[in-house]
Amino acid sequence: MSCMPFNFPESPIQVISHPLLVEKQITLQVKRDDLLHPHISGNKWRKLKYNLHAMQQQNKSAFLTFSGPFSNHLYAASMACKLFKIEGHAIVRGPQLDENNPTIRMAHACGVHLHAVDRATYRMRNQPDYLTDLQQQFPQCHIIPEGGSNQEAVLGVKELAQSLPKSDYVLCATGSGGTLAGLIAACDEHVNIIGIAVLKQAQYLEQEIINLVPEAKHATNWQLLCDHHDGGYGKFSAELWQFCKTMKKTQQLPLEPIYTGKLFFALWQLIEQDFFPRGSRITAIHTGGLQGLDGLRYRQLIFD
Ligand SMILES: Cc1ncc(COP(=O)(O)O)c(C=O)c1O
Repeated sequence: MSCMPFNFPESPIQVISHPLLVEKQITLQVKRDDLLHPHISGNKWRKLKYNLHAMQQQNKSAFLTFSGPFSNHLYAASMACKLFKIEGHAIVRGPQLDENNPTIRMAHACGVHLHAVDRATYRMRNQPDYLTDLQQQFPQCHIIPEGGSNQEAVLGVKELAQSLPKSDYVLCATGSGGTLAGLIAACDEHVNIIGIAVLKQAQYLEQEIINLVPEAKHATNWQLLCDHHDGGYGKFSAELWQFCKTMKKTQQLPLEPIYTGKLFFALWQLIEQDFFPRGSRITAIHTGGLQGLDGLRYRQLIFD
């Protein structure tokens, strides 16, 4: 692989118009990072970009990452391999690979080497000894954690933060915390940054975020809201999915119910409950992940 600039043009901002926003005197803009690239979209690209730089700087020819079988990270990483002609490896939570799963099919089509492991092995994905073994087994690889959230990811998300319009509040969906960490690192201190946790009992993520961005420990302008997971990771109510479909139809804002649907559903509730003072300018980050809809249809978790 030759030295690549790894740059895409900035994604657009969409202004949302809705009677609720008029009533509450709220300005709501959406940073459409889902449109950053047709296939390597959203926070996935933000988090991958400087990992690819790091790979080059370390003179590694490949990367190795970890993912669940329907993961947006796996999809984006696979697409990056194809686009930039990089060798890619993924340790995938198995025990077996379902070759008909649309995300797995796409990863295969991109030429990524998939290594299925049982759940017990997968649970070791952050353990130093296991990582040392893997590094010996794959010496050519730069190792990227599950979800892509590491120091390099924070650098990429900082670029996202710098591209945002003037805001009083910035909100994002939070899974592993890398995106929220990057926003905390780069947004001005007068901006309130809110992560909407998409998994149950997500309070532990606060420490993960502080590990990534130590200044977050004393910063008072961010919070992680943990009551909007709608049943837990990968779970969602019929009401939430209906909300996603309504937003697509009435606002031309496509959402999926695992990440961005939970973000906007929560945001809507918070606006209704007057969480934000009148006159607030809110920017919500659309972190992509729309490919996940194919996996939900494949598992018959949604039908339209
Ligand atoms: C579409 C989408 N949005 C948000 C997130 C959460 O981002 P983070 O893991 O950085 O908290 C993810 C997962 O990484 C995702 O796939």
